[in-house]
Amino acid sequence: MKINRICLLMAVFLGPLIAIFTQCVNVNNKPDARGEAYAGSDKCIKCHQRIYDSYLQTAHFASSQPASIHSVHGSFVQNHNQATFGDHSKVVMEKRGNNLYQVLYANGQKVKEQRFDIAFGGAKAETYMYWKGNQLFQLPMSYFNALGNWANSPGFPGEHAYFDRPIEQRCFECHSSYINELPQQNFSLARQVIEYDKNSLIYSIDCERCHGPAANHVDFQTANPTEKKAKYIVAYKSLTRAQRLDVCAVCHAGNKDDFQVSAFKFKAGDTLAKFKEPTFFSQIPNPATLDVHGNQSGLLAASKCFLKSNMDCGTCHDPHKNEASNLAAYSQRCMSCHNSGNHNFCKVAPEPGASIKNNCIDCHMPLKPSNAIEIAMGNGKREVPYLVRTHYIAVYPLAYKKIIAFAKDKKRVN
Ligand code: HEC
Ligand code: HEC
Ligand code: HEC
Ligand code: HEC
Ligand code: HEC
Ligand code: HEC
Ligand code: HEC
Repeated sequence: MKINRICLLMAVFLGPLIAIFTQCVNVNNKPDARGEAYAGSDKCIKCHQRIYDSYLQTAHFASSQPASIHSVHGSFVQNHNQATFGDHSKVVMEKRGNNLYQVLYANGQKVKEQRFDIAFGGAKAETYMYWKGNQLFQLPMSYFNALGNWANSPGFPGEHAYFDRPIEQRCFECHSSYINELPQQNFSLARQVIEYDKNSLIYSIDCERCHGPAANHVDFQTANPTEKKAKYIVAYKSLTRAQRLDVCAVCHAGNKDDFQVSAFKFKAGDTLAKFKEPTFFSQIPNPATLDVHGNQSGLLAASKCFLKSNMDCGTCHDPHKNEASNLAAYSQRCMSCHNSGNHNFCKVAPEPGASIKNNCIDCHMPLKPSNAIEIAMGNGKREVPYLVRTHYIAVYPLAYKKIIAFAKDKKRVN
């Protein structure tokens, strides 16, 4: 604030020396932690405002955020803000001023509390982290849209509240744009909890995570404002199909196999071969048993639609737009290839009536429970409050039966 006012005065008095003004404005700009080749998403707004505004609504923008009442969607209202564990302890979500906490009570006594610092997710579920020095740990309670409630974090024990799960860099490799691991202080054999450079964290999956470093592009287009052609930026159109798919597959090919090289190094135009073990490429996902979490790329690649056409993720997804649940819009994309004119249209689609005719999705890409996101409920049971769209596009007789039964039921009621 202070710096800006001084700059303004200088600009008024030293009118012609406008360059100084620009320099002053940049004083507060933190350099991008990824290096000088990167500009940061805020630099794109000036020329790509429409895309930027629409991008702010997407799951990629929400993928990691500072925790606040805006990014944490569970309730802090009394009686809706707690969970009980097998050992009769409870975790209560408490809001004090702008800070949010998970507080552990045993026998009515406060035992422990940690602040919500970072929020991951937002589309179907959220999980949270807290800083302890330079280390990061996952909080015991997560939030699930399908439950409309807090629940134990995925994979956590149900008998007691667990605050000790360290967060590895790989979570950030898919859920953020960057974080820098500090070198190990102590080279003893025991594995240490990773320490991070806190200031290096770049939230969200940002523009340059998908488009590659763009500082030169920003400099060039700024210096040449009349130039309508883009320079110094990877042109998506010029990429091969495999390269285009891998821009997404780096994060959407399942989260079981570790990266050989940090996924933060992946840039548009690279292929996954540099990042994964050769065995990764010989796995053919089995749509019946697979763990669907995140493996859209493997599943799609096994589908007839994919094998017999040139489709990629962009055939159905606009990466700058949130189209979640707009099944009619997605169905239009199916019909760009499948329509009565092309003789490969669905014989069944017209049958259930108008309401479902424009929903190819629930019959051919049904929702499946994720095996990866399974939670212990405290009563010894495990639940999966998290369904994923299978990207194995096929005929699913069971989904068909359910939908036909539903449509008939509806007819009877009406
Ligand atoms: C000073 C203006 C300016 C700024 C700032 C700017 N761009 Fe651009 N960009 C352009 C122009 C002009 C084009 C070419 C016309 C178009 O596609 O919109 C372009 C095109 C692009 C393209 C398409 C390239 C292609 O050939 O397919 C991408 C991707 C892109 N910009 C990304 C970015 C990102 C990411 C940022 C921020 C880090 C950014 N731009 C900042 C002016 C700018
Ligand atoms: C750096 C990792 C990364 C890359 C690269 C990436 N994604 Fe994602 N994507 C994610 C994560 C993580 C989520 C879940 C975010 C959340 O809900 O918090 C996600 C969510 C999505 C969603 C769900 C949106 C919703 O509203 O539920 C779609 C669709 C998607 N990605 C498509 C793509 C496509 C297409 C590409 C390539 C052009 C791509 N992604 C590239 C990590 C990535
Ligand atoms: C999840 C990955 C992803 C993110 C995040 C992303 N883009 Fe894109 N962007 C793409 C892909 C893929 C294309 C190519 C779309 C196509 O041609 O089918 C594209 C195309 C573009 C284009 C050229 C085509 C057009 O629509 O005008 C521009 C400009 C662009 N992006 C800018 C941005 C900016 C600015 C941001 C950040 C606000 C951003 N992108 C964030 C994946 C992404
Ligand atoms: C290889 C990439 C990858 C890794 C590694 C990864 N995730 Fe994810 N994660 C995703 C993608 C992609 C999604 C979107 C769900 C889907 O696949 O449909 C997702 C979804 C989620 C969601 C639900 C988001 C929502 O809005 O519904 C949470 C929470 C989450 N991940 C947390 C984590 C945590 C914590 C870690 C580390 C232990 C982790 N993820 C590691 C890619 C990854
Ligand atoms: C880019 C074009 C394209 C798009 C988009 C497309 N498909 Fe296909 N699809 C094909 C082709 C080509 C085949 C193979 C047809 C054949 O073998 O004669 C196919 C096959 C199928 C099959 C038969 C699968 C099997 O295993 O027998 C179904 C079902 C199907 N598509 C449904 C869909 C649905 C639903 C969508 C939208 C979510 C969709 N398709 C989008 C091109 C496409
Ligand atoms: C009520 C469920 C349902 C809906 C809705 C539905 N389909 Fe189908 N579809 C089926 C079933 C079942 C079959 C298998 C029919 C058979 O083998 O006789 C099928 C077959 C297909 C085939 C393969 C055709 C062939 O002869 O190989 C394609 C392509 C297809 N559907 C595309 C679509 C598209 C595109 C939509 C959306 C406009 C759609 N379907 C909507 C249930 C449905
Ligand atoms: C033939 C069309 C089609 C193609 C191609 C396609 N998707 Fe999807 N995708 C969909 C539909 C339909 C949904 C469901 C949208 C909804 O329910 O809101 C979806 C949902 C998703 C989601 C959200 C996951 C969930 O469970 O809700 C992610 C992530 C995603 N797609 C990633 C990808 C990636 C990555 C690729 C490329 C490897 C890809 N998709 C290619 C049609 C497609």
